[in-house]
Amino acid sequence: MNRLSGKGREHISLLLDRPDGNIGVELGVAAGDFSEVLLDSGCFKCLYGIDAYDDHHDVDEYKFALKRLGWQNQEKRYTLLRMCFNQALELFEDNILDFVYIDGYAHTGQNGGQTIYDWFRKVKVLGVLSGHDYCSDFPLTMRAVDHLVHRTGLKLHVSDMPGQSPSWAVIKTSDTIIDDVPQSLLRDANRAHQYRMFRSTLGSLIKPMLIKAGFTKR
Ligand SMILES: C[S@@+](CC[C@H](N)C(=O)[O-])C[C@H]1O[C@@H](n2cnc3c(N)ncnc32)[C@H](O)[C@@H]1O
Repeated sequence: MNRLSGKGREHISLLLDRPDGNIGVELGVAAGDFSEVLLDSGCFKCLYGIDAYDDHHDVDEYKFALKRLGWQNQEKRYTLLRMCFNQALELFEDNILDFVYIDGYAHTGQNGGQTIYDWFRKVKVLGVLSGHDYCSDFPLTMRAVDHLVHRTGLKLHVSDMPGQSPSWAVIKTSDTIIDDVPQSLLRDANRAHQYRMFRSTLGSLIKPMLIKAGFTKR
């Protein structure tokens, strides 16, 4: 593994083969913090953001991101697609993208690794596939990325900036397809998702009681 000491996720685009004119995708945009960084980097002639905005990341956040990222500007360098990651797959040909950054839900290992392997196909040779949260807080993400590295033999780069969750990246060197998602990873991802849903439902049931009893504020 190549640790990028003193480098944060904003430096991952330095792994690109050329400094500008790239086509990139960010999966998981939320309020647009990282999309804005990518746009400002000057590396991209065209950047797509994809996000479903169908949970606590909702339509208000979608509108905020649209306004922030200049959806009405003349250059049209940024397009925000409101849909699930897997729904967007057919919009992009295989081996077409210079850069993909995956920042959906790290606690599920990016959907048991499926998002990582699906979008690996979309990256061209010498393009960069990367993502957020390669750390022990998110063991399923580490397992999913490690499977990618194991199957492809690619060198793993990991950012290492104090105070920032590490991002991971690989530079694609051949047109390998990963179609053997480990079943144990999918099963554990499903469990992690169910557990998160249970906790959030429980929280929304208990909170009004705590407010009523004066233990917490609205
Ligand atoms: C951690 S936030 C993204 C943060 C953003 N990249 C940033 O740095 O500011 C995760 C986002 O991924 C979106 N998301 C998670 N899984 C998704 C999926 N399967 N399809 C579409 N959007 C998804 C959520 O709606 C949420 O807005």
